[in-house]
Amino acid sequence: MTDSPFKLVPQDPVWQAKLGRETLVASHNLEASGLFGDAALADLIERHPRQDLSVNTMGDDPMQRNEWREGDLKDFSGSELLEMVQRGRLWLNLRKMVIHHERYRDLVHGLYGDMEAQVGGFHSFEHSANLLISSPTAQVYYHVDAPLNILWHIRGTKRVWVYPRQDPFVSNSILEGIMVGERSEEIPYHTSFDESAEVLDLQPGQVVTWAQHSPHRVVNLAGLNVSLSTEHMTRAAQRRNNVHMSNHFFRRWFPGCTASAEVEGCTAAMKEFGIRVARRMPGFHQDARKGYRFPITFEVDPQAPNCVQLLNKAEPKAEPQLVGAGQA
Ligand SMILES: [Fe+2]
Repeated sequence: MTDSPFKLVPQDPVWQAKLGRETLVASHNLEASGLFGDAALADLIERHPRQDLSVNTMGDDPMQRNEWREGDLKDFSGSELLEMVQRGRLWLNLRKMVIHHERYRDLVHGLYGDMEAQVGGFHSFEHSANLLISSPTAQVYYHVDAPLNILWHIRGTKRVWVYPRQDPFVSNSILEGIMVGERSEEIPYHTSFDESAEVLDLQPGQVVTWAQHSPHRVVNLAGLNVSLSTEHMTRAAQRRNNVHMSNHFFRRWFPGCTASAEVEGCTAAMKEFGIRVARRMPGFHQDARKGYRFPITFEVDPQAPNCVQLLNKAEPKAEPQLVGAGQA
């Protein structure tokens, strides 16, 4: 067990029963891989394809998501960008790590292999990973993701809020809209929600996962933060997404009707079967989940406050724009 990056007691009954359904924390030793030190990160930033590398900045009020901005990395080197992240208020997202970097792909597949070996009955597929490198004061606003999330925290400290997957934190109609690509994963938030959240202060070497479709937000507490954010699907997760998708079309075809989001039982199975059959029918149009991007409204600048130089006094957009590309 000591050789495994994912350190869970073998066949832990809690993980077996609750993975994908509740918030769980365990340990890992990814930092020992040598793939997340300053030199490795600087090299990775330089080699990562720019179309899958984004930089963002933000304010400090979790309700003011309109302060989230997308930026231009200019031609700075990896080490220069890393230094600006350390000193400024920036959030780097290296998307599609599994596709672009063989060593990290092997690492991610190894992590899931270890999890499957240690959690009885766990089988996952559609693995993906984003590497998040962010400033000591950066935050990620309240949102929800369609797949299952695992956050492997490696450097710095951060606070994670995880909210119940029910009204008023997230409604079924919102989830349906996300599944069919009609809306982004940014969803309405109020600070009063925090009373109902699970709050975790993550230290390096900790990994956290939560129930699928649980809204969450993250605020860094100290140090340069480095986390590997992996996503995956399971058959149960696929069923949940298909039920929401089926309910969306049910409402479209039969306005005024209500539909349950229950994922167990015959009705849920019939909904999933129905949506799979419908996808193959001529004339059926289903909007795939698409990515949303913000317009570029700043560029990184080592001389500017927080290393953020605003462009043309541009105002950030309150809502992200649909572009049909991958989202963080
Ligand atoms: Fe997320």
